[in-house]
Amino acid sequence: MHFSNIASLTVVLASLASAAPTRRCEGDGTCPEVQTWDNCLMPNQVALTFDDGPAGFEKDILQTLGDRKATFFLNGCNSQCIYDEENVKQIRALHAAGMTLGSHGWTHAHFNELTYDQMHDQLWKMEEAFKKILGLKPLYFRAPYGEMCDTLMRVLTERGYKKNFLWSDDVGDSSLLGVEYGKNVYKNISESKPQHPHMILNHASHESTVKEILPYAIEELECAEYEIVAVDTCLGCQGEWPYEWVGEPQERDETWVC
Ligand SMILES: *[C@@H]1O[C@H](CO)[C@@H](O)[C@H](O)[C@H]1NC(C)=O
Ligand SMILES: [Zn+2]
Repeated sequence: MHFSNIASLTVVLASLASAAPTRRCEGDGTCPEVQTWDNCLMPNQVALTFDDGPAGFEKDILQTLGDRKATFFLNGCNSQCIYDEENVKQIRALHAAGMTLGSHGWTHAHFNELTYDQMHDQLWKMEEAFKKILGLKPLYFRAPYGEMCDTLMRVLTERGYKKNFLWSDDVGDSSLLGVEYGKNVYKNISESKPQHPHMILNHASHESTVKEILPYAIEELECAEYEIVAVDTCLGCQGEWPYEWVGEPQERDETWVC
């Protein structure tokens, strides 16, 4: 049997056993390593990233963003369940509006404390949710707390992820540093010369970030002639479509539970 036959047999077996870890490696057995990025590459571009949703404010974020693009790193079972009817509707709306959606793990776990199998489970459950809701498999990931041990990188590589994201700036909302601190992060960025790119960590789960900091951020950044884009765009030719197409979005059934 030739390599190509073995490879396609492996693909068939992997798709039959959907709960099993899937290896997406080249025919010669090498796996392209997942890369970690902590900033954009394109000058004058800023990537606003929103973690920890769905949390009920997606509609507000979308409304405030208008035509601008942002990135959302989603959990399955954090403050809310990803399968709640309203959350499914909002995630589909984010996708339809051209937002980039990535995985942030199922329960916002400390990955440094998980076993290899638990990591696969965290990622697999999110992939199932993306598949059911959007018909897509995410290829972008952000590690909760930025915890990225070697085992996580290996698991991400084995599951075919393309990129793991950190950030260049943090609005400090998860540390409860307050609205003024968050606004100052954006003020400082808009005053930075020359216009270095930024990849900014926000949390979709903080109402004041969504309702107070975000409108201010957009105004400041655009006054400084920054363009607000998603992470795949601000990486220029290093970016790629952040998903793998796996089928049509599915209808709700008894498996849509957290
Ligand atoms: C903004 O810049 C000022 C002046 O450099 C600095 O003192 C302040 O700590 C910065 N604030 C934030 C939130 O980064
Ligand atoms: Zn998080």
